[in-house]
Amino acid sequence: MVEKYLQPFQLSPETLQEVSARLRKDLLRGLGKHSHHKAPVKMLPTFVRATPDGTEKGDFLALDLGGTNFRVLHVRVEEEAQKVLKMDSQICAIPQEMMLGTGEQLFDHIATCLGDFLESHNLKCQTLPLGFTFSFPCEQLEIDKSILIRWTKGFNCSGVEGKDVVQLLKEAIQRTGDYHIGSVAMVNDTVGTMMSCGYKDQSCEIGMIIGTGTNACYMEEIKNVKRIEGEDGRMCINTEWGGFGDDGSLDDILTEFDVEVDKTSINPGVHIFEKMISGMYLGEIVRLVLVKMTKDKLLFKGQISEALGTSGRFETKFISEIEDGLENAKKILTELGLDWGLVDASVVCLVCDTISSRSAYLCAAALATLVNRIRNNRKLDHLKTTVGVDGTVYRKHPTFSSKLQKAVRLLAPQCDITFLVSEDGSGKGAAMVTAVAQRLAHQSRLLEESDGEDDDDEEEEEGQ
Ligand code: GLC
Repeated sequence: MVEKYLQPFQLSPETLQEVSARLRKDLLRGLGKHSHHKAPVKMLPTFVRATPDGTEKGDFLALDLGGTNFRVLHVRVEEEAQKVLKMDSQICAIPQEMMLGTGEQLFDHIATCLGDFLESHNLKCQTLPLGFTFSFPCEQLEIDKSILIRWTKGFNCSGVEGKDVVQLLKEAIQRTGDYHIGSVAMVNDTVGTMMSCGYKDQSCEIGMIIGTGTNACYMEEIKNVKRIEGEDGRMCINTEWGGFGDDGSLDDILTEFDVEVDKTSINPGVHIFEKMISGMYLGEIVRLVLVKMTKDKLLFKGQISEALGTSGRFETKFISEIEDGLENAKKILTELGLDWGLVDASVVCLVCDTISSRSAYLCAAALATLVNRIRNNRKLDHLKTTVGVDGTVYRKHPTFSSKLQKAVRLLAPQCDITFLVSEDGSGKGAAMVTAVAQRLAHQSRLLEESDGEDDDDEEEEEGQ
């Protein structure tokens, strides 16, 4: 009986291979010169052209906006110790009203939090470079010019879409702050994660997030990024794979519950892949399945408690806790006001396991697409690479990471992948991007200077 409800969530290896193949086509559409405008997987250039080489150093500020909290960090990159150290950090909550309010309110709040942090850590008199992790799809024009394409996850502030987010931040600092910041580098959290792991392991060329939202970035050959000039070298591409399926390409694997989650979200039709995978939605999918089973009298003696009947009340963290042990399941079901028996508790565990496994397998299919692409790009029989990962679902769920890793091995057998969990990745990584940008700028200044010296020599020679 229970199987009937869960079967649509169970994806065979062949289906996962098919998902991976569809994503492969979408990556190409996103990279194309003309096709990228309409591509569901946006493949955004990030202007990050190099991963760390281990010579970066200095003090930086980092802002991290994109999950449930906003964080300010003071980060030190130490060359000698090859370490990125978090000196201090502070979390500022973003109230729900602010997530749905005006952009001006949001950025004023950010500027005020940053000011308070600088004040309380005696940093106000310094002008430190700032890495801004802004985890939403942005059309990046330069490292410090980044236009928000659209809000995702729970955010929907007015007057920000289509605007340069760095400019909005700088204006807010001018309005509310009595402090200055140095050069700014904008990064997506996936990029931050890749870069923060990249200091430790220089073969880290993919960053992946499975938290409130899901997404990944990777190093692509510039000659394949048709929408930007240049032939040589690589650039980090923010795939925005959460948008996979927005053109209907995944409709055949969506369940009625996925359709419902999308319909009742604040952005219907947007980020369909993300809605099957990430922390913002998994709990709600489980809740909808449990409600349906209860209505059909399969669970809880047919009685839906008020909590179970309320959208958003079954949190994604419950899934991790429930799968961690039956005792947790019993406690949570009691807290949700449900009249449960032993069979109910084990069915709930099974539902959680089915839905979190589907999430892990879909991520694996998407990651396999990326590693296979990198391997093909480099014409290698075998690729050895490292993925920097972050996000609460990946970190906190008891079996998610092992399921994902096992499935990627099956789907990308010629790739040998090391997974590195990034601690404070998006914050530290933003500092790292700023540090790498400074290193590259410094190197090109040195080059120009030495070119200049050569020119002088030539002139002198001509004069003689
Ligand atoms: C959403 C955002 C993306 C971010 C991801 C993980 O998918 O659009 O930019 O990287 O969430 O936080």
